[in-house]
Amino acid sequence: MQVKTTPAQHIPVITIDGPSASGKGTVAQLVADKLGFAYLDSGALYRVVAFAAQQNNVAWDDANAVAECAKTLNIKFKNDQILLNDHDISNEIRTELMGKGASQVAVHAPVRAALIDLQHSFHQAPGLVADGRDMGTVIFPFAPLKIFLTASTEIRAERRYKQLLGKNQPANYENILQDLQERDARDKGRASAPLVMAENAILLETDNLAITDAVNTVLNAYKNVKTC
Ligand code: DC
Repeated sequence: MQVKTTPAQHIPVITIDGPSASGKGTVAQLVADKLGFAYLDSGALYRVVAFAAQQNNVAWDDANAVAECAKTLNIKFKNDQILLNDHDISNEIRTELMGKGASQVAVHAPVRAALIDLQHSFHQAPGLVADGRDMGTVIFPFAPLKIFLTASTEIRAERRYKQLLGKNQPANYENILQDLQERDARDKGRASAPLVMAENAILLETDNLAITDAVNTVLNAYKNVKTC
């Protein structure tokens, strides 16, 4: 896949990549708030594509048809809301099913290509924090600070389990663990932009790390990058 370079590479980007339920979204959002930067949740875009495909009766394994959906998305971001065709679908895309669908549509190179410009459009002054799987390796390879945030599968499953219970949604630990293992294998094993730690990324293991400590580690690393 050919990736265009963005013209404004002097605008700082912090990339936070890692597997599902590692806590990278929470950390990325808090870091963005602290720095007054924009925040890109790239996983949400793949979730929207899975949702739009399902609404149009397009099978998630039909690469070309899903790519057409991705190219013609009428998607808007309004505060914390994600709108598809002017309908707020923020909650609909956060289900376990849409997480699975996102991982399946994300396998297709034409789908990934269709989302590149949209992701680059978030790269604006004063800066951006972008979370996902390929932020540091493919979408913003020039980022001055790259983080790879991870945790053991068991800890991630436990966090997801508690999160679902907190939202009064049905949750089964064993099923969640199995889903995460399948999703990790698919995200790491695909040919196009697989989940992999960028060569120059900082590894942050969060099994025994509180969110605030993870946020402070990223902010300190960013201070060091800026003063180099
Ligand atoms: O971060 P998340 O759980 O919302 O992501 C859902 C799926 O989307 C994930 O399993 C793989 C895919 N994804 C991707 O392939 N590349 C990204 N940059 C972000 C997410």
